[in-house]
Amino acid sequence: MVKGGKKLYGEVSVSGAKNAVVAIIPAAILVDGICIVENVPDIQDVRVLIAILENMGASVAFTDESTLKIDCRAISKQNEPDALMRKMRASYYLLGALLGRFRAAKVTMPGGCSFGVRPIDQHIKGFEALGASVWQDSDVIVASAEELKGTNVYLDIVSVGATINIMLAAVLAEGVTVIENAAKEPHIVDLANFLNAMGANVKGAGTDVIKVTGVKKLSGGAYSIIPDQIEAGTFMVAAAATGGNVLVKNIIPKHMESISAKLIEVGAKITEHDDSIRVEGDGELSGVNIKTQPYPGYPTDMQPQIVALLSTAKGISLVTEGVWDNRFQYVGELLRMGADIRVDGKSAFINGVDHLTGAPVRATDLRGGAGMVIAGLIAEGTTEITDIQYIDRGYEKIEEKFKALGADIYRVNS
Ligand code: EPZ
Repeated sequence: MVKGGKKLYGEVSVSGAKNAVVAIIPAAILVDGICIVENVPDIQDVRVLIAILENMGASVAFTDESTLKIDCRAISKQNEPDALMRKMRASYYLLGALLGRFRAAKVTMPGGCSFGVRPIDQHIKGFEALGASVWQDSDVIVASAEELKGTNVYLDIVSVGATINIMLAAVLAEGVTVIENAAKEPHIVDLANFLNAMGANVKGAGTDVIKVTGVKKLSGGAYSIIPDQIEAGTFMVAAAATGGNVLVKNIIPKHMESISAKLIEVGAKITEHDDSIRVEGDGELSGVNIKTQPYPGYPTDMQPQIVALLSTAKGISLVTEGVWDNRFQYVGELLRMGADIRVDGKSAFINGVDHLTGAPVRATDLRGGAGMVIAGLIAEGTTEITDIQYIDRGYEKIEEKFKALGADIYRVNS
């Protein structure tokens, strides 16, 4: 429940990155030793992954509120796919990790947010290039290999998931794997750094060519997850949208450049420090054009949040989705709040209105849900958001963090 109209003030500290941790926990399967992973966010996707690893026989425990100790030495090859895997998209990383460790993997077709068709042909192309046979039906994917041999893989589409999965499968393969046209997102660099900290040899992550030289084994160690670019961006946009003044802390400003640039264009004031950014939004905000793109472009995972802001910014905005086929489902919810938005294919034309009005709305997916929170914060009256389990998949204590900034927001336990 959000009562709108409060400007956000104060400081907020950003948690560890969801899209990094959902790759790093499965990556621990490859490690013949103990992994200590720090700065782990307490989100639903992490709990699901922990349960999946425990089902396979791993020992996983929090040693403090954000440090996870993972020991996968005892997991067995005969894992049976289960319903838990269907709960999250990132369960497909188990394919690359299990294939890398056991030369065999069986995983239930991933669930997660639905933005139209979500193919995994590029993941499969990579596994096959490494020497695996892959079989799939509507429910399960099975991959197996006599041996995995390093090779060159050119991705036809810049895919975060395929880049990560091929890295996972290649780390313990024989010889050198080169991934060309790789994705460059901060969480890809984070996974590479984690693997290298465990004894892998991965070079070039963060560029579009990644070179993985296979090693015999990974032997454990400690690693701290990077701050969440999208959580940070969500607070930055919320600060600007409400006309507030917020210091967003524990971030890597370099990762925020595309978001900062758009907020400046909208009319917010951005001040960058070493590991924090201040956002001030007290002037009039005006419409802008945005196209979402792979990193370092403006992130698709920040699209609903900025559309919520633009719905009351002065003038016309054009937001074009450049990654997913169908990521505007949440717009219907904004219309109920009085927004004037027309979606045509992959573009949304937004005519800024004077104000939004609180209404009952639904979180259609994780980031759509974050967009609803921002819309609720700027709306007149009360917004009731249902299906918040989507938001909990990826944001740690979202309502507590907003409340600490002065928002009138609370969780209703039904
Ligand atoms: C990751 O999804 C993120 N999820 C998504 O974040 C994010 O929106 C997306 O990357 C893009 O940044 C996780 O990290 C768990 P992709 P992923 O493979 O890896 C097409 C969030 O809200 N494609 O980079 O599944 C695909 O259809 C979530 O945190 C193929 O055609 O995305 C899409 O159009 C939602 N074939 C495009 O590539 C493939 O084999 C990019 O997808 C793979 C992808």
